[in-house]
Amino acid sequence: MNDRRLVLRVATGSGLALVLPRTSGAQVRARDARPQEGDRFVVAAGDSKGTVVRLPDLQTGSPPLSVLPRDPSGTIRDGSRLNQILMVRLDETRMSAATRTRSAQGVLAYSAVCTHTGCDGLSWAAETLRFRCPCHESEFDAADGARVVGGPAPRRLPALPLKIVDDYVVAAATFSARAGVIQP
Ligand code: FES
Repeated sequence: MNDRRLVLRVATGSGLALVLPRTSGAQVRARDARPQEGDRFVVAAGDSKGTVVRLPDLQTGSPPLSVLPRDPSGTIRDGSRLNQILMVRLDETRMSAATRTRSAQGVLAYSAVCTHTGCDGLSWAAETLRFRCPCHESEFDAADGARVVGGPAPRRLPALPLKIVDDYVVAAATFSARAGVIQP
């Protein structure tokens, strides 16, 4: 058996074999790990799923893009729902000063998992630049570090600082806080 593949003989005696990709321990760890500095991002769903995100893919005024981090070796970090990220490009003049320091040419990234009880599927209000949770209606101000501006969420959505490298959107650090729900 070679190192990259796992071959399972079918126990029917037919002689057919199933060839499955083998996932190394390192790959499993990379898939489960939170985004790290140097990660790029891929589109998480839809026709462009798997496409690596470049700056021109994000237009000011367009709805957020659902993305997943991808480590420098090409492993997509899809092993945890806590790695779901919302990426949006805003007019920098509308951002708070602290938010602007985390953005890259107006692009911002936040955890897509609500800090209340962990729902995802947040919607977007373009007029107010707010994410809205479908479960209990918490709202988060994207232009001000995703601080809570309504609903029961106890804390803001963690932010992921960004930079632009060769036109690619790249993580400049890890999440600003733990993603998801923090139990008291
Ligand atoms: S899970 Fe988001 S507001 Fe309750």
